[in-house]
Amino acid sequence: MLAARDLTKEYQSGTSALAVLKDVTFEIPQGAFVAIVGPSGSGKTTLLGLLAGLDLPSRGTVLLDGADLTRLDEDARARLRGEKVGFIFQSFQLIPTLTALENVQVPLELRGDADAAPRARDLLQRVGLGDRLGHFPNQLSGGEQQRVAIARAFANQPRILFADEPTGNLDGTTGDRIVALLDQLNRESGATVVIVTHDLTLAEHAQRVIRLKDGVVVEDRPSRSAVSAAPAPTGAA
Ligand SMILES: Nc1ncnc2c1ncn2[C@@H]1O[C@H](COP(=O)(O)OP(=O)(O)OP(=O)(O)O)[C@@H](O)[C@H]1O
Ligand SMILES: [Mg+2]
Repeated sequence: MLAARDLTKEYQSGTSALAVLKDVTFEIPQGAFVAIVGPSGSGKTTLLGLLAGLDLPSRGTVLLDGADLTRLDEDARARLRGEKVGFIFQSFQLIPTLTALENVQVPLELRGDADAAPRARDLLQRVGLGDRLGHFPNQLSGGEQQRVAIARAFANQPRILFADEPTGNLDGTTGDRIVALLDQLNRESGATVVIVTHDLTLAEHAQRVIRLKDGVVVEDRPSRSAVSAAPAPTGAA
């Protein structure tokens, strides 16, 4: 389970503190597929970074499978991320001096995976980049770089995958392919998937939608697809 309790993040701006997240509280059970939505600047990327333990809140706690991330030091958080968390950044963050294949292979090698190269190749094939393995990030289009980032995040079979705008730069067909991969990870591996998206169709494809506005949760509800998939009410018993 993943839980946020009274999460607050402030940045110092001159002499005053600017709160970009205010007392955000929710629980996400293992295996859920959740979309975080909201206007630009509402705090979505900040929240994702706190949930993944990439950043620390000013106040409040994040519980990841019982571990309070805010009480762990940087090394312990990095270890926990390596074991459990996959993260697809809004800005991809590929390593520019490594090819597409190497970018995906490195996290596998760091885990001591003996089949790192074939697994990385397979993952890149699944995101449609089988013919771009030797390309460096600056030789790939924005959408292609994004797909390398997605393959890399899937590489260590995370228990929790965070994805910041995973389909933001992709055309409809490629975006559908990525959504199918997210679904597969969610359904077959039981991974929790938490995405940030401006794409309302994708948001409703998740099971639950959490809406932020000015750093506050203003809505937390089942998605339309989750509601229509639920059994119809049977009326008075
Ligand atoms: N390091 C920082 N220092 C000061 N302010 C910051 C910092 N990082 C983010 N902010 C501010 O926090 C607010 C929330 O930023 P965040 O990136 O979480 O928004 P977002 O909801 O992801 O927006 P978008 O949809 O545009 O990606 C913004 O107003 C931003 O300017
Ligand atoms: Mg953002």
